[in-house]
Amino acid sequence: MKSVRAITCTAITGAALTSTPTFSAGNSGHDAKALSDDVVRARANELIARMTPEEKAGQITQYFDFLNEPEEAKRVESEMAAARAGSLLFVHDAKELRRLQQIAVETTRLKIPLLFGYDVIHGLRTIMPVPIAMAASWDPKVAEQGQAVAAREARAVGIHWTFAPNVDIARDPRWGRMIEGAGEDPYLGSVMAAAQVRGFQGAGIGTPGTVVAGPKHFAGYGASIGGRDYDEVNLSDSELWNVYLPPFKAAVEAGAGNIMSAYMGLNGVPATGNRWLLTNVLRETWGFKGFIVTDAGSAHDLKTHEFAASLEDAAVRALGAGVDMEMAPPFGVSAFKTLPQSMAEGRVSVEAVDNAVRRVLEVKIRMGLFEQPYVDLEEAQRVLNDPGHRVVARVAAERAAVLLSNEGSALPLDAKMLKSIAVIGPLADSARDTVGPWVFDQDDSETVTVLSGIKAKVGSGVRVDYSPGVTMPARLHKSIFDSSPHKEIPRVQVDDDAEIRRSVEIARAADVAVVVVGESQLMIGEQASRSSLDLPGRQQELLDAVIATGKPVVVLLMSARPLDLKGSKPAALMNIWYPGTQGGAAVANLLFGEVSPGGKLPFTWPRNIGQIPMPYAHLKTHQPKTAGERYWNEPSTPLYSFGHGLSYSTFSFSNLKIDQVRVIVGEPISVSVDVSNTGSRQADEVAQLYIHQRHGTAARPVRELKGFERVTLAPGQTRTVHFKLTAQDLSYWAASTRSFVQDATVFDVYVGGSSTASLAGNFEVTAQR
Ligand code: NOJ
Repeated sequence: MKSVRAITCTAITGAALTSTPTFSAGNSGHDAKALSDDVVRARANELIARMTPEEKAGQITQYFDFLNEPEEAKRVESEMAAARAGSLLFVHDAKELRRLQQIAVETTRLKIPLLFGYDVIHGLRTIMPVPIAMAASWDPKVAEQGQAVAAREARAVGIHWTFAPNVDIARDPRWGRMIEGAGEDPYLGSVMAAAQVRGFQGAGIGTPGTVVAGPKHFAGYGASIGGRDYDEVNLSDSELWNVYLPPFKAAVEAGAGNIMSAYMGLNGVPATGNRWLLTNVLRETWGFKGFIVTDAGSAHDLKTHEFAASLEDAAVRALGAGVDMEMAPPFGVSAFKTLPQSMAEGRVSVEAVDNAVRRVLEVKIRMGLFEQPYVDLEEAQRVLNDPGHRVVARVAAERAAVLLSNEGSALPLDAKMLKSIAVIGPLADSARDTVGPWVFDQDDSETVTVLSGIKAKVGSGVRVDYSPGVTMPARLHKSIFDSSPHKEIPRVQVDDDAEIRRSVEIARAADVAVVVVGESQLMIGEQASRSSLDLPGRQQELLDAVIATGKPVVVLLMSARPLDLKGSKPAALMNIWYPGTQGGAAVANLLFGEVSPGGKLPFTWPRNIGQIPMPYAHLKTHQPKTAGERYWNEPSTPLYSFGHGLSYSTFSFSNLKIDQVRVIVGEPISVSVDVSNTGSRQADEVAQLYIHQRHGTAARPVRELKGFERVTLAPGQTRTVHFKLTAQDLSYWAASTRSFVQDATVFDVYVGGSSTASLAGNFEVTAQR
């Protein structure tokens, strides 16, 4: 039966979005009557009782299906036809998804539908700003709504499950996958993790128009040594519990149906074979009820890690650690193919395999795939082309931008006063880079670049001259995204010397130059770590030459890691991230002041690469102030602090109220502050609350974010923002007791617009009244 239900997306309060889009779920999903756990389990058990060992092993194996690799596609299809595949990934074409599902449902013995997974990281057809940008909005509603749109498009074409959100904390910007997460902070990371799970899954697994969320990569992946992707991770228990695990816990509490294990070894034990992580922490301590998938080939990797003795051993140990499904290595041998033999020889129990099979079948049952395995192809097209989705993408990009500096209020530009603009830089008109990495089904012709956004905004009354400035260099080493099925897009090649000269000319002839520089989308993401924070290629030279003209220069950085601009002083600097399908339209609205930037940095921006890692939440140690600095050659402060971001207006914080001077351990405490717009434009400010514990069982960071709220204020308007600090907010994992503790101690509270907020108060926590 065709089920149509309206999904009312949470309202975005952005000034530019006048009406909240309401989306119909179409027929992309089963109208799940909340099936009871018992019913679901009984149905799964019935099937399990009829399955052969090979079918069971297949049910918990997921294969890559690369359509443009005919040999590999043939191999995968024959596994499917023999009921030896439970899930496929990387298919995103609605027709193809339907064809493959038909094979599973109409030709196999037990007619078990396939579960289709995909990396829907920040959109399928409508591309949202990259996840770190969503975090920079400090607006969980934006993140939730963006992922709700992504889910709706994915589910419409027949995708059931996304390998997202990435909730890895990232404190080393050399690590390319910083782009996929929410940055360095566990509190912001937790809020964004939960918001994205809600966005993807809606009211829960089986809700029409939603997909299963798979937070990843469990756990610690962001702390790879040297920022080198996949490299080993050595984390103290304290860092794990206090910094790296909280976003996963938040995602589990939000109801995530899946978790992906990580590639790397955690303190010597590969995450995918780590029973402590997958079973003791995730299932037993947190009560996770969903299924666990490996990262691609990471069961197989247990052997690569020199942890497992053989492929058989790898499969047995992954399953034994708590893994339910193997994402097989692309083009490689699946470790779980060895399970039937291991069952026969008693190396793994039938019960252990059945438990994993059950968890996978239960998801399929809950999603209604047995009742409604197919989607309507026409409906899919309608959903993919929904103009409401593009509005969500534009508003998200507007809210994500972070204005880092704005000397002499160079921004916003006044379109009425301008006669000409020079738009310069290799990223100014690159549709592919504008949408960022982890995007496979976007429509490049529809993507609004910065150049096209500006042109559309100013119309014919203002001359717009454009130069790419320099060639964006190629990477030294290729990545997975250079190879099949994601062929590299040829880059615009220019004569750099001639083009820099031309850029200078057009800047001289213009009233203002807008320079768009940064990293190409291939330079950030998986397998995109980097040992430098400089602008790649000759972009710095281009920038210096344009600034030297003396014209006002606005620099827009397309980047997802802090870059080192070598002290360049443009009139204004704004980080626009990889802003997505509507990026250029959003940027134009920001440049011309239709909306004011209100995003804030989700990470610390160092002065140079030598300072990293430099989290704001560090501990106070010997001589914190004497000589003031940790480096003799430069200040130990960052260039821009965590939480920093300017606006076209100004704000003041006052009237900090802490409802009690003293609470006892376990009690919550309320804090409020007045935020006033002291400027002359409507704009947003993010009220941020930080705490600092003065003494206790363990030393605690100088500041820790524990609350925030983004507010929109008219000129002269004041709003009181309320925060609640719970006992959990005041607790932490202490190495000396190897447990969570809440100390009787004194807390400082800081509230303001960044992590350097100066408005302060304090309260005491006592053991008893
Ligand atoms: C490997 C990546 O680490 C993971 O994040 C991704 O979901 C899978 N490949 C599938 O593409």
